[in-house]
Amino acid sequence: MRVGYVQPAPEFGEVKRNLDRVADLLACDRADLWVLPELFATGYQFATAQELKELAEPVPEGPTTSRLVALAREGGFHLAAGIAENADGRLYNSAVLVGPHGLVARYRKVHLFYEEKRLFAPGDLPFLVATVGEARVGMLVCYDHLFPEAARTLALLGADLIAHPANLVMPGLGQLTMRVRALENRVFTVTANRIGTESRTGEALCFTGLSQVVAPNGDVLLQAPQDREEARTVEIDPTRARDKHLTRLNDVLADRRPEFYRLG
Ligand code: ACM
Repeated sequence: MRVGYVQPAPEFGEVKRNLDRVADLLACDRADLWVLPELFATGYQFATAQELKELAEPVPEGPTTSRLVALAREGGFHLAAGIAENADGRLYNSAVLVGPHGLVARYRKVHLFYEEKRLFAPGDLPFLVATVGEARVGMLVCYDHLFPEAARTLALLGADLIAHPANLVMPGLGQLTMRVRALENRVFTVTANRIGTESRTGEALCFTGLSQVVAPNGDVLLQAPQDREEARTVEIDPTRARDKHLTRLNDVLADRRPEFYRLG
């Protein structure tokens, strides 16, 4: 199975332009599963709730999900991508998984970052795992990376791979934690980050690139540059993520002692 990331430089509010650019980048390589960044079609830094409302779309009927499905159909692949979702007036920072036949899964970002808290409703759907070819795929969005419970929940649900649309702004942080999430759960992770800067509110946000694919032992199989658009893929065997052994006598899921853990 080939998996890859797309690392574009979206322009705020230019949805058609951003979708066209992603379509061009996708044509650079071939994959079974592509991961795109968080809010890749709209851009990230909404100045007002009204601005977000005007750009957020219903899923799957909206133009962004429809275009992603059309791309998936033409290319015969699946795509996981971040999207501003308008669900009957409630606005979510969501991710969709689409394939040639349409929407496969939807996730709404559970852990909202920074100014997102005054714009979006927190995610209200359970973490979920869907099948893409041979792989069981779960989704997290950006800042979810800092919560080991989120990735662990996906691993316990049977995920082989975590698709991670992101708009990372703290240099190196999410790239580091996703390596840890991969190795502590023995899963593949694909983080698609964006590049460029947005300073629409008087505060500049610089997106850190360095999109990556990580193996279940924490090895970085592929990494993008910090400051250049790129779409790249790598061949993986997702079934490798089903062996949770660290040593002959240690299985990282079976060795857990939940009776000693506190979740609240
Ligand atoms: C983030 O959650 N966009 C950092």
